[in-house]
Amino acid sequence: MRHLLTLENLDRAAINRLLDRAERFRSEGAPRHLLAGRTVLTLFFEPSTRTRTSFVLAAKRLGADNVNFDLSRSSASKGESLLDTLHTLEAMHLDALVVRHNENGMPAYLAEHANTGVAVINAGDGTHAHPTQGLLDALTIRQRRPDFANLRVVICGDIRHSRVARSDVRALATLGVRDLRLCAPRAMLPESLADFPGCERTEDFDAALAGADVVIMLRIQKERMLDAQFPDPADYHAHYGLTAGRLALAAGDCQVLHPGPINRGIEIAAEVADGPQSRILDQVANGVVVRMAVLAELLAKPA
Ligand code: NCD
Repeated sequence: MRHLLTLENLDRAAINRLLDRAERFRSEGAPRHLLAGRTVLTLFFEPSTRTRTSFVLAAKRLGADNVNFDLSRSSASKGESLLDTLHTLEAMHLDALVVRHNENGMPAYLAEHANTGVAVINAGDGTHAHPTQGLLDALTIRQRRPDFANLRVVICGDIRHSRVARSDVRALATLGVRDLRLCAPRAMLPESLADFPGCERTEDFDAALAGADVVIMLRIQKERMLDAQFPDPADYHAHYGLTAGRLALAAGDCQVLHPGPINRGIEIAAEVADGPQSRILDQVANGVVVRMAVLAELLAKPA
């Protein structure tokens, strides 16, 4: 593995190896000097709370130096100017570039043009992929239910615009999930994505929830749609909001995930987000160890 751009080319063994390593970091603590002398640069062209902070912490906890660039407020710099940025940063000798961008494929473009020796990690590109989120969601689910083949999983919300949904579907399918329901109003449900047997698309949230073991809720990606496409929040909540009453339709031990940021009262009720079945803060904690595992995999010198 030289870069981490999507989960498409990771098989089940490779995903489990990363998750096992993350789990060891969680239970045994971090080898503080594993990445000593390495430099990780975080380059975010879109806002982020969890993802960037956890990459920074992950780098630091393994002893790497971290440099953080916040470009989310700068005017769009694309194409040539982005390459110029890359080459400028490379001249400072970096080992990993963690990049978030609003355009699909931008991390892959940078990986193509990066010097050998620079690992590019996709921290979310447009609606395309968010591989470390897919991994941390898989780890969170696995901690309670390692039997992926027996799980009924529901992903509900703005799937059309969600890179998280795409990486989650990929991770879960690779790990053996055979019953996956993608649920959204028609405008937020993409044609593609139901790409394996047992993956169904539905607009009926109550029906989708019946017997679910895991439900992953998604934020409406307002920034990726026209204002006119944004639904009325109360109406959306009435049909697609996860309330305690709705959650009762799922299995009694159903785990509730959400990548954050959450919009309380729209896609998820506060009572559920803060309730006993919520794994939302576990996801955040797992995000740090998963990103440590990815950095270790890409940057650690063989022992
Ligand atoms: C997600 C993202 O940026 O894709 N957030 C995250 O990384 N935790 C989902 C979102 O913004 O809704």
